[in-house]
Amino acid sequence: MNELIRLVDIGKQYQMGGETIAALDGINLTIARNEYMAFIGSSGSGKSTMMNILGCLDTPSKGSYFLNGRDVASMSQSELAQTRNREIGFIFQSFNLLPRATALQNVMQTLIYRGVRPAEREKRARHALERVGLEKRVDHLPNQLSGGQRQRVAIARALCGEPSILLADEPTGNLDSSTTADIMALFDTLHSEGHTLILVTHEPEIANHCQRTVRLSDGHVLLDQTKPAQQNVEVNPHG
Ligand SMILES: Nc1ncnc2c1ncn2[C@@H]1O[C@H](COP(=O)(O)OP(=O)(O)OP(=O)(O)O)[C@@H](O)[C@H]1O
Ligand SMILES: [Mg+2]
Repeated sequence: MNELIRLVDIGKQYQMGGETIAALDGINLTIARNEYMAFIGSSGSGKSTMMNILGCLDTPSKGSYFLNGRDVASMSQSELAQTRNREIGFIFQSFNLLPRATALQNVMQTLIYRGVRPAEREKRARHALERVGLEKRVDHLPNQLSGGQRQRVAIARALCGEPSILLADEPTGNLDSSTTADIMALFDTLHSEGHTLILVTHEPEIANHCQRTVRLSDGHVLLDQTKPAQQNVEVNPHG
């Protein structure tokens, strides 16, 4: 197994008015490179908390997170920022696009943080928008795009940094079923191209696209299921 992520006894607690909430509690999990997995579980079970920790947007209260074999807690602020920018692409349910920026500008934005030169930024952003089928919508503002197109802009933005890991928290939560199918087809392609995809979803059909499903309950792993590998059926061209 080509290990990408290892979580060792991860816990995340929140203090709220004298009460301690354990959003995650004693999580042990290993995720391989190029895995395609979904976190499922009821509302409040810890899925978004998990994604924020995996994406280095938040730090655990206890335990260790190893990314590419490195303890994330040992990274300096700048190393952490670099890891976030280079390794990880985030896709949110609510798209999180800049409302006054065009599709192209929204996608280029992440490359600014990475110090990519303007001409190269535009080239890469256009390419990312092409990959999600939006080459004809580069100059549209978010409110001039459909929900599915907005989500594709968000995916292009996550992709243009060429992250190895794509984290998507309810990426199709605001989309109708046919647009959801388009987005899932795109995720399937990204997986086959070698990306590691980690999704959060409420929808069984979406979890079904994934090879592995981890069910969280009250901050614990309740179930960790991997589909059996597909059998390669030998086809005899002469038979
Ligand atoms: N910033 C915070 N402060 C206090 N409590 C929090 C905070 N963020 C999350 N929690 C609590 O931690 C628990 C897990 O929250 P989390 O957002 O991870 O759930 P979730 O599985 O993503 O739920 P949903 O499906 O509704 O998005 C919940 O009980 C929530 O109330
Ligand atoms: Mg959530």
